[in-house]
Amino acid sequence: MPPRPVALSAPWFDEEEVRRIRQALSGRVAGDGPYCRRVEERLAKLLEVPRVLLTTSCTHALELALLALGVGPGQEVVCPSFTFVSTANAILRVGARPVMADIDEATLGLDPADVARRLTERTAALLPVHYAGIAPDMDALLSLARERGLKVVEDAAQGLAASYHGRPLGSLGDAGCFSFHETKNVTSGEGGALALRDRALADRAEIIREKGTNRSAFLRGDVDKYTWVAEGSSYVLSDLLAAVLDAQLDKLPEIQARRARVAAGYRAGLSDWAGGRGVTLPSASPGRTGNDHIFYLLFPTEEARERCRTLLQSRGILASFHYVPLHSSPFGQGVVPAGTALPVTDRVARTLLRLPIHPLMTEEDVDRVVDGVRATDW
Ligand SMILES: Cc1ncc(COP(=O)(O)O)c(C=O)c1O
Repeated sequence: MPPRPVALSAPWFDEEEVRRIRQALSGRVAGDGPYCRRVEERLAKLLEVPRVLLTTSCTHALELALLALGVGPGQEVVCPSFTFVSTANAILRVGARPVMADIDEATLGLDPADVARRLTERTAALLPVHYAGIAPDMDALLSLARERGLKVVEDAAQGLAASYHGRPLGSLGDAGCFSFHETKNVTSGEGGALALRDRALADRAEIIREKGTNRSAFLRGDVDKYTWVAEGSSYVLSDLLAAVLDAQLDKLPEIQARRARVAAGYRAGLSDWAGGRGVTLPSASPGRTGNDHIFYLLFPTEEARERCRTLLQSRGILASFHYVPLHSSPFGQGVVPAGTALPVTDRVARTLLRLPIHPLMTEEDVDRVVDGVRATDW
């Protein structure tokens, strides 16, 4: 019998999500319905911001943030290359140019010194990514932005329930963008959210999200009919998916506790092994509380990483590398000027291995992963 597979990630759904979808089906199922409003309020409380807008994805939340901030043609936005394509796509979709900076090996997020080197008079915004729910040096990035009059949009797709010096990720800059894709800690299959600290910016974003209309204000009873008031698009989440998010938010403490147990099992089982072999585990960076979204190992070489990955795979365990850096992807090569040097990004992409982590993992699963990693030799 082949071993029971261990997935890299998995959502945790049960009867509660089904019950809430049924309830949502009996009411208004379009966007901005009762579940959307309820989840937006819950997220605003969790993130300690005045307004949150649910969106169809984090990709759309990023686009919406840049549009509402007025970032557009002729301008540049500095982001990492070690990220998902959506970070750069959002910048391109609003007509601006993504400028890629290197990452810091401790956080796998933007290196502020390299960001400073890449600023020009066209730079309009910084777009840091909270990889694995760990913030880069946000104090340095925010002070750079303040000095140069730049906007800051956080790609917090992976950042829900994580914090930086006690402040929730996604609440530090002008806008914070979250993902509820199936792979995330809290999920509705697809979905996203935009967290905003400025109410006027939120009012602008709300109109763009609703096809350029003031329908949201109408639904609140603030205006007596709704009409076309600006250029916009359709980024609003259906109430059916918001109902799923509502159930997921109830489970958030238990989701986090289960993920934390997996991460603790990996640390207990692998720290001594890693120390003797030049393998790095994610370190607890000062001032940061993570959310155990990703658990990764950094191997000394790509060959060592591949040996571990294939051995785990042969045992039915799905461990995986992560991003092909955007500057070296087929499309990215046409976007990023040739010769752009991002040495830390390149090295991390070659040597990083993600281990399975999700709320449905058993202790036995964790032991099997630990045994497999420890059995790897190179
Ligand atoms: C860093 C990062 N940014 C953006 C996204 C896009 O999220 P979505 O799939 O909700 O559009 C993801 C999704 O994996 C991500 O990891």
